[in-house]
Amino acid sequence: MPNETPRRTFAIISHPDAGKTTLTEKVLLLGGGIRSAGTVKGKKSGKYATSDWMEIEKQRGISVTSSVMQLLYKDIQINILDTPGHQDFSEDTYRTLTAVDTAVMVIDSVKGIEAQTLKLFKVCRMRGIPILTFINKLDREGKEPLDLLSEIEETLEMDTFPMNWPIGTGKRLKGIYSIPDDTVEFYNESHEREILPYKEVTKLEDYEQEALEEEIMLLEEAGNDFTMEKVLNGTLTPVFFGSALSNFGVQSFLDQFVKLAAEPQARKASGELVPPTSPDFSGFIFKIQANMNPNHRDRIAFLRVCSGSFERGMEVTLSRSGKKMKLNQSHSFFASDRETVEKAYPGDIVGLYDSGNFQVGDTIVGGNTRIQYEEMPQFPPEKFAKVTAKNALKHKQYHKGIEQLVQEGTIQLYKTPYFEDYIIGAVGELQFQVFEYRMKNEYKVDIEFNHMTHELARWVTKGKVTEDMTDSRKMLVNDQQGRSVLLFQNEFALRWFQDKHPDMELSTGWEIL
Ligand code: G4P
Repeated sequence: MPNETPRRTFAIISHPDAGKTTLTEKVLLLGGGIRSAGTVKGKKSGKYATSDWMEIEKQRGISVTSSVMQLLYKDIQINILDTPGHQDFSEDTYRTLTAVDTAVMVIDSVKGIEAQTLKLFKVCRMRGIPILTFINKLDREGKEPLDLLSEIEETLEMDTFPMNWPIGTGKRLKGIYSIPDDTVEFYNESHEREILPYKEVTKLEDYEQEALEEEIMLLEEAGNDFTMEKVLNGTLTPVFFGSALSNFGVQSFLDQFVKLAAEPQARKASGELVPPTSPDFSGFIFKIQANMNPNHRDRIAFLRVCSGSFERGMEVTLSRSGKKMKLNQSHSFFASDRETVEKAYPGDIVGLYDSGNFQVGDTIVGGNTRIQYEEMPQFPPEKFAKVTAKNALKHKQYHKGIEQLVQEGTIQLYKTPYFEDYIIGAVGELQFQVFEYRMKNEYKVDIEFNHMTHELARWVTKGKVTEDMTDSRKMLVNDQQGRSVLLFQNEFALRWFQDKHPDMELSTGWEIL
């Protein structure tokens, strides 16, 4: 797409089963779908991505990586970055959020805000990313709409502004009233879209009309004021109700999405904001995927274009090392479909062939610019394992492999004091599997995991750590920067420790990493 075409780049944050895949599919169908990625899983139909990326992927029939989807809607190019959940949840899921300008939070109306949504939300909050909310499964008997708004406001400490309002829910679902358009979209089994101006609506029972008008009045009086500024700084979320499965409310959502989603934003580099309009090309690597094609043993670095324009074959500089290189192999990345990208603009994602030059968080610049985008945050791990090489004679490859994979961001490394045992940390189980696979295939080392039962990491920000802090319920380790970290088995062990050591301050890592 030419540069004149505006871009909107977003990812969905949700808990597994809230309806991310269904919503993505419906949204893609609405667009003049330029291309769609193979990662939209077929579930029961068995239409899994025909990808040859990794053995793990093949064995499990899932797509390991976040991929990118594109659609053209109302002359706007929408880039959707997939954020894997379930067992596929990994640091890549978090890192993907650093490359988007907007997040869409999908909430199951029956369940409300769930654990994974909350974790992903925290990353968006940390980065000030605007969030649009889609409350899904309106066709089910869910929580009361007003209760759902309160839940968002209280749990996420973010104002809400409903863009539409349900007329009944579950079995009594009649439709949704669009607040900005003053129209009613009727719900029907055939999924045909039927919209009428509110004035012309005759199908509602008196009690339904009364309830709707009362609730709208309540929202007007007691609700929050809407400003685009609050949306864009992530302190207010526009909320949409709908049902992805019934394709109900999806198009109205997309119509508003293109108006509300943030355009490619200026990003901080070397202490200054670099606007997307800056003429010099710049971008950053937000994830690296190895072995996407086992025949070539290649790695793909995913680049988010931030400013200027990207052209295949252009000479660029890697800011970290000053190394110059030509970017000849650039792809748009749609599961097994690789297409060469000739040009890309701010907001776009390009897959670059990588022979080992890039690290997660790297900045690439064109021309004579010398900037470095803000460091990629590290994310607090929740799964830990002691790791050793099965064959002690392979210790050289073992250390080299660990060092490189840690640097690449595959896994986090901790060491116990004195003995320096290796403990690896991850946010999702998948990272361990990828780590094991790559150690075996790339470094020829079989590794042994000793999974630990600890699941909370806390960085010691104040107070003195002592040797006896390691016991059956907690363990003292050092992170890569030599900072003291306590790994706790559970919340109970953490509270116990805090009660006994009121003088010590612990951080979840979100604030300091
Ligand atoms: P995810 O990607 O967030 O994990 O969720 P996904 O879209 O796969 O949806 C999870 C389940 O919820 C699916 O059912 C899907 O059909 C259902 N679902 C999605 N949107 C709605 C909705 O608006 N209303 C209702 N009632 N259900 C919805 P499943 O049985 O797990 O899979 P499938 O057999 O439907 O593929």
